[in-house]
Amino acid sequence: MLLVASCGLDRPAGGAGPRIVSVDDSVIGAALHQFDFSGGWTWSQGAGKFQQGDHYSGTTGDQYSIKFSGGRVALFGARAPWHGIAKVRLDGEERPDIDLYAPTRADQVELLSVHGLGGGTHELTVTVSGQKNPLSEDYIVTVDRIDVEGPISTATTGPSPSQGPSPSPTPGSEPTGQPADGIVRAAGTSLKLNGQTYRFTGVNAYELATYWDVNAGCGGQVNDLDAFFGSLRPNSMVRTWAFQDLATNKHTGKRDWTGIDRVVKAAERHGQRLILTIGNHWADCDQPKKGKEWYEDGYRAVQPGQPTSYWDYLREVVERYRSSPALGMWELLNEPEIACGSTPVLREFFDVAGGELKRLDPVHLLGSGVIGGTQCGLRDQDYVTVHQSPAIDVLSFHDYNRDDEALSSEVALRLQQMAKLGKPLVVGEAGIKAGSDAGCLSTARRAAKFEAKMTKQFSGGVSGFLVWNWIPGTEGCDYGISAGDPTLATIRDFNLGSGEVGAPPPTSAPSPTASATASPVSRAGPPMGFNHYNHFGNTINEGIVREIVDAMVRNGMREAGYVYVNIDDSWQGERDANGNIRTNSQFPSGIAALADYVHKRGMKLGIYTTPTAKTCAGRTGSEGHEKQDVQAFANWGVDYIKLDWCGADYSPDGAAAIARKWKEAIAASGRPMVLSINAGGTLHVPPWASEIVNLWRTGDDICSSWYNQTRDPDPASSCRGKQPAGIRDYLFNNTAGNAPFVGPGHWADPDMLEVGNKGLSFEEAKTHFSMWAMWSAPLLAGNDPRQMTGSDDASRILLNTEVIAVDQDPLSVMATKVRDDGGLQIWRKPLAGGGQAVALVNTRDEATTMTLSWRDLGWTSVSAVRDLWRHADLAPGGTGYTGSVPAHGTVMLRVAGS
Ligand code: GAL
Repeated sequence: MLLVASCGLDRPAGGAGPRIVSVDDSVIGAALHQFDFSGGWTWSQGAGKFQQGDHYSGTTGDQYSIKFSGGRVALFGARAPWHGIAKVRLDGEERPDIDLYAPTRADQVELLSVHGLGGGTHELTVTVSGQKNPLSEDYIVTVDRIDVEGPISTATTGPSPSQGPSPSPTPGSEPTGQPADGIVRAAGTSLKLNGQTYRFTGVNAYELATYWDVNAGCGGQVNDLDAFFGSLRPNSMVRTWAFQDLATNKHTGKRDWTGIDRVVKAAERHGQRLILTIGNHWADCDQPKKGKEWYEDGYRAVQPGQPTSYWDYLREVVERYRSSPALGMWELLNEPEIACGSTPVLREFFDVAGGELKRLDPVHLLGSGVIGGTQCGLRDQDYVTVHQSPAIDVLSFHDYNRDDEALSSEVALRLQQMAKLGKPLVVGEAGIKAGSDAGCLSTARRAAKFEAKMTKQFSGGVSGFLVWNWIPGTEGCDYGISAGDPTLATIRDFNLGSGEVGAPPPTSAPSPTASATASPVSRAGPPMGFNHYNHFGNTINEGIVREIVDAMVRNGMREAGYVYVNIDDSWQGERDANGNIRTNSQFPSGIAALADYVHKRGMKLGIYTTPTAKTCAGRTGSEGHEKQDVQAFANWGVDYIKLDWCGADYSPDGAAAIARKWKEAIAASGRPMVLSINAGGTLHVPPWASEIVNLWRTGDDICSSWYNQTRDPDPASSCRGKQPAGIRDYLFNNTAGNAPFVGPGHWADPDMLEVGNKGLSFEEAKTHFSMWAMWSAPLLAGNDPRQMTGSDDASRILLNTEVIAVDQDPLSVMATKVRDDGGLQIWRKPLAGGGQAVALVNTRDEATTMTLSWRDLGWTSVSAVRDLWRHADLAPGGTGYTGSVPAHGTVMLRVAGS
């Protein structure tokens, strides 16, 4: 089916300069794997945007096309933990594919931007080509927003008219569609810079960031960085180490960027580019090689003498330098080889760590940095397996040992693999020994050999050639190349061909310390994580918990802030002769082992008990063993205690006394642990609970249904015949009465989430999640995270970082209801920084237009409005917001005003 929507928009009269029209994702609720480009275009003058069902997602072969006039087009979309490829053609010319891979969903990433198109009408087509989603069978591409300059004439979606291979570009033609922003990008097996083919020569200079006064160093110290960078031609590549050792002050053991900052700033001053190679310290300054265990999960552990793990350092270093104009490319490690038979481990490392890097910096390239020769773990097909990682943009090869072969069989094989993989190949190191020792090659002869290699290898298709190794001074017969060596003149003057880029990047760009991205979600709010009870009841076991932990790492939950992994009821066995509580056969390895597993992955463990002899599920409770159990939990490494009540004293004084006793036991244990209680949902709980514990339950158990206490629940839910609360019930019961007692460190808990469980529609689940965030409630996922693929409904809700940010707002205010007009509710929540979050909740059974007046927020005017489900900025004018809200749905806004 081909849906055609057309409109005849004209540029509004009197507008100065080019007008950018934004086509914006407004149907978060649309089913994936289908086109949802139906419906007519509407033009909202006020919003300055198209407002319509323009979410574009599709399966392989599906195509979206738009005709527009004007000189620019840009696509923004989702990079998500599936692997989708969009093939793009502009005016019939094939453009570089858009690769949508990222380990977690990142919305509104710029996928394509083309400027400087000539006059007349242009046509952009985006075809889903797809590669297998590693997590499910679907291929998905999501484009959330399209900005075009000038009017749009038609837009169509549907299967591609021809699903055969698209014609290749004319040989020798130079695509002009890449932005002239000084960023090196990949296009098939080539590199591009400022829209032109980019080939480079350069040097390895691994020790540039060594600064002995400050860091523990690696190699020799290069004092005159300006002389070094100034001796290379502009836009050369310099591969250097950005290891954690070089970013650590050896005197204090704390983070210190002095060494690496010096290098990055000097490269910026001279219009040079850096391949920043991340690492800790191993395998690089003659330390032992990294073993398989390191690639498995050792990289998540903190090494002696370093402030953080490799995993955390990766984030720090990428955030620090990703906006530097000198950044040419990243590498995760220097020569990350692995033993025979362990190739899949290395591949997974690239997928996970590389995926994380691409999430943090979707713009710059990631090179593999491998030797890529005949080593066992990277030979032949193994090389392909590793480089098929969607995170790797650029293949690497290190050319040693065949000094007289300009194009050795090894390089020839890599060139074939390059063609197969469709990614550029860079000779990241080429080393030939030379020097003054008797019998050693002269440096002039070495330069000639390098020249022969470059000539052959560039004409074979490599994109870059870096000699090993520039050092401050050489001696004897070695690989070192110091100032004045003829090799430097050879690489500087080598003719790179017609596509050579000579212009240096701008030097007025931000310094490496400036961050171009929005600040991350603050984690100052209530706990976020997972609890098994809603989905698994009493049938949980440690194997499932481990799988869930792995899933949370993989599917982006941990990254989004879901760090607590809470074991609810049913882990308990009998006590031993000394009264020590033991686990039952569902948890044969014990809680300490599980806590260890969780901690190794940067997460936290929670556990459940009751003050009574038997828990709610009839297992062993803590009565008479309170201190002993709390101490055991502390010894095991528990971070969170859920104290249920079944059968304990619910009276205000009695319940408060129990809570106090547990608080004291935790303090005496020496381990900080969150204390969460379930002392009944009456409003006499919050006044005392807010002074004693971190979290208190506000009512009955939750149920995965919209209705439950007022009407029969959804038949798909498991709520039938039970008393718990449906989502609608929360919107009318006494939950809101907790508001005066909620604040940082003490939160009301309406119970674990049901997002992702059967019984709630997508809109209902969005309302559920929105309101928990509005109420500053703990976000404890109660679904099966193993089923989350990043594109399913649960992912789209639970990983909405804009809504999470409202929940985690450091003020931790619980939203209050401003109005309820026959079930049309407006809630507001003051946020740190003076803004407010607003939820417009339609509890009625049909879609209804709702209006928010700025006066509802105590304001007369607003300066910014953001729709947190559509991820779109709205025009802030007028006296309020009006929009249609689906049945049982919610519009959630973040508003700034006065
Ligand atoms: C209930 C509690 C639930 C769950 C269950 C376990 O009382 O509200 O969240 O913990 O006990 O048996």
